[in-house]
Amino acid sequence: MKPDIDDLLKQVQERVKSSWQDVQDAANTTIRVEVAKGLAKAFLEQARPYEQNAELARLLDVGLIHKAAFIQKPPYLLQFYLRLLFAFAEAPRRILEIGVKGGGSTALWKALFPSATVIGLDIKLRRWLASTSDGVRYIESDQTDTARLRQLAEEYGPFDLVIDDGSHRSEDQEITLRALVRHVRPGGVFVIEDTHAAGGTFWGDFIASLGIRFRGGDKPDGAGAALAWDLSPRIDDLIISNRVIALRIGDKDHGPAS
Ligand SMILES: C[S@@+](CC[C@H](N)C(=O)[O-])C[C@H]1O[C@@H](n2cnc3c(N)ncnc32)[C@H](O)[C@@H]1O
Repeated sequence: MKPDIDDLLKQVQERVKSSWQDVQDAANTTIRVEVAKGLAKAFLEQARPYEQNAELARLLDVGLIHKAAFIQKPPYLLQFYLRLLFAFAEAPRRILEIGVKGGGSTALWKALFPSATVIGLDIKLRRWLASTSDGVRYIESDQTDTARLRQLAEEYGPFDLVIDDGSHRSEDQEITLRALVRHVRPGGVFVIEDTHAAGGTFWGDFIASLGIRFRGGDKPDGAGAALAWDLSPRIDDLIISNRVIALRIGDKDHGPAS
């Protein structure tokens, strides 16, 4: 039977497309991992590498690599992490990041702490994360799926470090924090990024109310205050930075000041 030329052409197109995707996936993984290793050495000075490097910009232009393969955290945030992570008595061994985009930040955690188990969760995983060799375990899930979070924590926790860089909606951030706070080991840290993003007063109220709680004052109204009251027995330190807060989890309830 004479092959149908349209069919043949279609097959060729499919093959080219799937090998082009394989090449893109491999390129995105290589870039992520190599950039992360470079950042691990001197990540204080790094900005988005493709804005400074013509070769990388060219690879982006031709569509071989994708911007999402680069870490999304700006230098001021990386500096915050530097201060935070190197204050740990021991290197973190179990890390969970919620919201990974193309895996730039999870590749960085793995480069900084090679023996750690790093879990990355996202509502929609980028294609190249399915076949990645970056040593990170990627899981597709919504950060508000508390049953899934519990299951994950039972399998991989207790965590030394949890980072919420997901939807940046305070309602979601609260659900995730309430579900996971008991799965952070004493001395571990829970970081919430972009606490300003949703607008509103939730995190501002949380921060102010925790202060009131610690000095033995009366509970203010509102959802942020309710969260502060509920979590205060578990929190040793509240670290506030620009657009990000970190809660260090304690092992004793010191109670409010008397
Ligand atoms: C800012 S990006 C993460 C950037 C990455 N952590 C980094 O620093 O390179 C936010 C990610 O959160 C994911 N996301 C948004 N809503 C989510 C949800 N409800 N549950 C889980 N992930 C979510 C998005 O798909 C996106 O990939």
